[in-house]
Amino acid sequence: MIEVNLNPVSMIAGTGSYTPGKILTNADLEKMVDTSDEWIRTRTGIRERAIVENGTVTSDLCKEAALKALEEAKVLPKNLDAIIVATITGDVRFPATACYVQEKIGAVNAVAFDLSAACSGFIYALAIADNMLKAPENKNILIIGTEILSSITNWKDRNTAILFGDGAGACTIKKSDGKSGILGTYIQSDGRLSKLLTMQAGGTKYPDPKDITDEKLKYISMEGREVFKHAVKKMVDAAKLIIREVGLKNSDIKLLIPHQANIRIIEAVAKKIKIPMEKVFVNVDKYGNTSAASIPIALDEARKEGKINKEDICLMVVFGGGFTWGSAVVRF
Ligand code: ACO
Repeated sequence: MIEVNLNPVSMIAGTGSYTPGKILTNADLEKMVDTSDEWIRTRTGIRERAIVENGTVTSDLCKEAALKALEEAKVLPKNLDAIIVATITGDVRFPATACYVQEKIGAVNAVAFDLSAACSGFIYALAIADNMLKAPENKNILIIGTEILSSITNWKDRNTAILFGDGAGACTIKKSDGKSGILGTYIQSDGRLSKLLTMQAGGTKYPDPKDITDEKLKYISMEGREVFKHAVKKMVDAAKLIIREVGLKNSDIKLLIPHQANIRIIEAVAKKIKIPMEKVFVNVDKYGNTSAASIPIALDEARKEGKINKEDICLMVVFGGGFTWGSAVVRF
């Protein structure tokens, strides 16, 4: 599904992010599984990741990121029309984590709901919010990408334990001021490939956790090499498509913010779409793969570091479980 806005109706007016204070380094992982700092760095680019303390829930991370994104946009929680939380690791089965966020920030007039699209969730939420703001009545929407992946990681499996982290990133989406705007979004899925990246427990397939005898089903499972290949191809296609449809050239892009899963995926995508690494934002070394939180955390950091300024055009591109993928072009 593609959406091109010749006259953008909405813009990103504020960003915020939050990552927990507890840091798990590659050296820590060396003590937990048969791995090495050198293997992890060269295969993934990850040096450390932030992990929550026991007792922290996903909506706690959301609240911290959300309040920053609202403050920057000068939007009061009571003036939010909607809250969309993209996550695969919500607080509970129901209600939606977005409803807990609504309560925690006092967004009494908002509709609140969650969105499940794994790593691609934030770009899906951006596309939906942009469309919701096409109704004249809707003015302010909070979108959040967040995960506590440490809660669904098998800490005994070296293939996956090294990859993931926790965090939240939020954006306040407002009506366009005529200069800034969401120029285009593209989101797509292919359910035929779902088994390559999945977690089977926690749904109606295994209603009673005691029925699960295969330990692997209780955690994230991934065919790493296959996911890698699909991720590069789909992210390249999604980036090229949105640049072309919006009518831009590569040289118009000030910064590429790719999903932060693996430095080798990021470098391969940048090379194939011919964007130099100096124009690519990377923080996978600090946080690992935080799934739906990855792009909004990176976006917030890039803005705070002065890498995106007023009227700069930013390209975001993502790939995740489902499979799901997508891209967005935004003028700040
Ligand atoms: N430490 C040391 N050795 C390891 C480790 C480890 N942590 N993990 C695997 N190995 C070994 C394997 O056992 C294998 O050994 P063998 O050759 O004796 O069998 C060898 O290293 C190579 O394993 P591969 O899986 O082929 O390694 P690869 O280079 O593909 O890297 C990785 C693995 C990092 C997982 C990579 O495939 C990857 O990044 N895949 C994509 C992940 C991704 O992008 N996910 C995105 C979506 S995530 C989401 O949606 C939630």
